[in-house]
Amino acid sequence: MTTIALNTPDFVKHQTIIDWVADIAKLTKPARIEWCDGSQEEYDRLIQLMIDNGTMIKLNQEKHPDSYLAFSDPSDVARVEDRTFICCEKEIDAGKTNNWQDPTKMRATLNDKFDGCMAGRTMYVVPFSMGPLGSHIAHIGIEITDSPYVVASMRKMARMGKAVYEILGADGEFVPCVHSVGKPLADGEKDVAWPCNDEKYIVHYPETREIWSYGSGYGGNALLGKKCLALRIASVMGREQGWLAEHMLILGVTNPQGKKHYVAAAFPSACGKTNFAMLIPPAGYEGWKVETVGDDIAWIKPSKDGKLYAINPEAGFFGVAPGTNTKTNSNCMASLSHDVIYTNVAVTEDGEVWWEGKTKEVPANLINWKRQKCDGSEKASHPNARFTVSASQCPSIDPDWENPAGVPISAFIFGGRRADTVPLISEATDWLDGVYKASTMGSETTAAAVGQQGVVRRDPFAMLPFAGYNMADYFTHWLEMGEKVGKIANEHGNSLPKIFNVNWFRRDKDGNFVWPGFGQNMRVLEWIINRCEGTANAVETPIGLVPTYEDLNWTASDFSKEDFELVTYQDKAEWEAEIASHKELFDRLGERMPQALIEKQKVLLEKIKAEM
Ligand code: GTP
Ligand code: SPV
Ligand code: MN
Repeated sequence: MTTIALNTPDFVKHQTIIDWVADIAKLTKPARIEWCDGSQEEYDRLIQLMIDNGTMIKLNQEKHPDSYLAFSDPSDVARVEDRTFICCEKEIDAGKTNNWQDPTKMRATLNDKFDGCMAGRTMYVVPFSMGPLGSHIAHIGIEITDSPYVVASMRKMARMGKAVYEILGADGEFVPCVHSVGKPLADGEKDVAWPCNDEKYIVHYPETREIWSYGSGYGGNALLGKKCLALRIASVMGREQGWLAEHMLILGVTNPQGKKHYVAAAFPSACGKTNFAMLIPPAGYEGWKVETVGDDIAWIKPSKDGKLYAINPEAGFFGVAPGTNTKTNSNCMASLSHDVIYTNVAVTEDGEVWWEGKTKEVPANLINWKRQKCDGSEKASHPNARFTVSASQCPSIDPDWENPAGVPISAFIFGGRRADTVPLISEATDWLDGVYKASTMGSETTAAAVGQQGVVRRDPFAMLPFAGYNMADYFTHWLEMGEKVGKIANEHGNSLPKIFNVNWFRRDKDGNFVWPGFGQNMRVLEWIINRCEGTANAVETPIGLVPTYEDLNWTASDFSKEDFELVTYQDKAEWEAEIASHKELFDRLGERMPQALIEKQKVLLEKIKAEM
């Protein structure tokens, strides 16, 4: 057997990385190795390669300058939660909501899977930073991958390129990430347009901080800086080091007087983070401004004076296309004006992209995401079709979005997708109540993950698929952070962020949304920041503090008191069932559940029985 040349470039001076790359090459047996430098030339060359391979097409360059459309294999379209593993030494440390496997056994399994898995392919070495380059809060990863689609996407989603090696120097710390589509090519075998494997493994070793991903080329399964590093591995780091890694957007909101607040909001996958982060205030909100820091992930650290500062560790958006249009999110549409990689949307005969909800009218002669002519019998774009674009292209990007110190958070917002039960907005009475609300959040499943859609499941903190350790320990971490940081904040005349619960997705009996959402969410956001300022009213209910119709600003809106009733009513029977399902979750999470939350559940049930 011949060993392939490493061809280590001059810009790599880190012997551990060089040795590791050599080891992975020995195992995976690629045809060649390419050390990516993140240059435009490299990007253009890989794009051309993918056009030649049939992975993607070039779009109409007048309508979509420098933009491309990739079609995935129909079996590889979303995150695979049941194939995502947390492999720590003890099963209890992964907890009941994660798939656990013994790390030694998993290493043996993966050794088999990765043996020769890159045969006939190029192995790319992709250096990236999550967080601004060189910032003390950033973390560096190196992703080895055999997918040029991953390389091109990583260049938009993270700070990718050879400057990362300058920061690493000869011995800097990095998270090793190994990714393969799991489709080795025999001598002379012709490649397919979207190589992948039916058998998938998305594996995390929290103790050694390693990521191994096999079999998928799509999204969070394959762009390992995102969910794998910035959430699963980072959540473990955060617990050890006293910070938070969260599935949250970050936005800044400035009132007409010029006072600015930042809020961070956790909604489960495909439940509105990108859209809320880019909100355009509606008519009647002249003088208000909403700016975007991030749309998916927040790393949040306490300052010496007890404030919580958040950064967006990402550099781009990997956002849901369907439902996005100039009315619902014109900031997003403007971000897509050039340099976009689309995946699994439909395309018109003259090379323009289309997806459900982009325009009212469906264009004639569409080619769907399966590359077939649309006959109207199926959706033209996949429900989890996405765009990949640099955050810097967003017109509402916040001036401080790359500030390594982060932005101070005034409020946390948690929100699920609930057809019933949960009102438009409520405020937690204190930190414990807020942690309770976030821990017990339920949401309908969406197309962002493979599996049944539209079923309500508990999705604590919108982190069910992303917590890298025991969910009960994660609740404890939040409670302890509140206690510690709260104390320091008090000493400095500051206070912890207030915590809110929202639901944009209530439906009437015909299944229609009863809240218009999108820009109209500004009315709820205004109430939230006014509550933080101490200038808005609320009334107490068994499930928290809520506004009356009069407490929200309805300027230039015809939303009536009756409409408001539909989005805010509290139904006793629904809430009794809801609280019962909280207990089911807590029982399932088992022995490490914090007692304070268990007690809270009982008190809440009594309160609802007596007062609702
Ligand atoms: P991930 O990237 O999967 O984490 O999702 P996300 O939370 O960023 O979700 P996103 O903002 O992309 O929204 C997902 C879907 O929900 C899109 O189809 C949106 O059009 C739709 N959506 C977003 N906000 C609202 C809203 O306020 N009301 C309604 N009815 N739909 C919304
Ligand atoms: C999500 O599913 O929450 C996403 C998309 O943000 S992915 O990166 O594929 O996980
Ligand atoms: Mn997400």
